Amino acid sequence: MNKTGFIFDLDGVIVDTAKYHYLAWKKLADELGIEFTEEDNERFKGVSRKRCLEILLEMGNIDASQQQIDAWLFEKNEDYLSYIDRMDESEILPDVPKVLDYLQARKIPMALGSASKNAKPILQKVNLLSYFNTLVDGNQVTKAKPNPEVFLIAGKNLGVQPENCVVFEDALAGIEAANIAGMTSIGIGDPKVLVHAKYNFTDFTEIDFTFLDALIDKLNGKA
Ligand code: BG6
Ligand code: MG
Repeated sequence: MNKTGFIFDLDGVIVDTAKYHYLAWKKLADELGIEFTEEDNERFKGVSRKRCLEILLEMGNIDASQQQIDAWLFEKNEDYLSYIDRMDESEILPDVPKVLDYLQARKIPMALGSASKNAKPILQKVNLLSYFNTLVDGNQVTKAKPNPEVFLIAGKNLGVQPENCVVFEDALAGIEAANIAGMTSIGIGDPKVLVHAKYNFTDFTEIDFTFLDALIDKLNGKA
């Protein structure tokens, strides 16, 4: 029997939505007269929508009422959703379905662990929702990554102990969260950035079944 569970971050791991977040933040930043580059957008990866706006306002030295902040958060999200609405399966990152199919065939339970409040509509758009036994996203989590809350809830929902969970993450804060949770972290992206990840791959094309089998055996105590 398997006692392992796999948890996937969404943005930057399953789909490349960072470009849409960037366009939506850039539009708001332009309106507010704040210079916002793709490099600035790097700091927004894995960070909640609310916290992203706080950082943007700090960059522009802007104070605002709660009502105004709520209006900007709404505006940014509406703009973001207009991009999401046009997404389809072609925007799934390379070889993600290969890994999902393999794990599903091996009957490994899978969870989504994301800071996004838009996780479910995105998974529906790209037709991947059915792979996941549980979705834990920004609607259920109160403490942002690097707090491990999102992954601990995901592991609990899967009925798998943290030490038997694997987490795929593209953000530094997400790798930290997985490590703090006591899970096996797999960095997807630049190994020079994701230095604290237990394993690192540039993308899913580098992950083969031999690696997955060995990892599952190790977590099951068979290796
Ligand atoms: C994370 C993204 O997954 O979700 C962040 O990496 C984003 O860039 C955060 O800000 C919140 O997303 P949303 O969809 O709730 O605005
Ligand atoms: Mg991410």
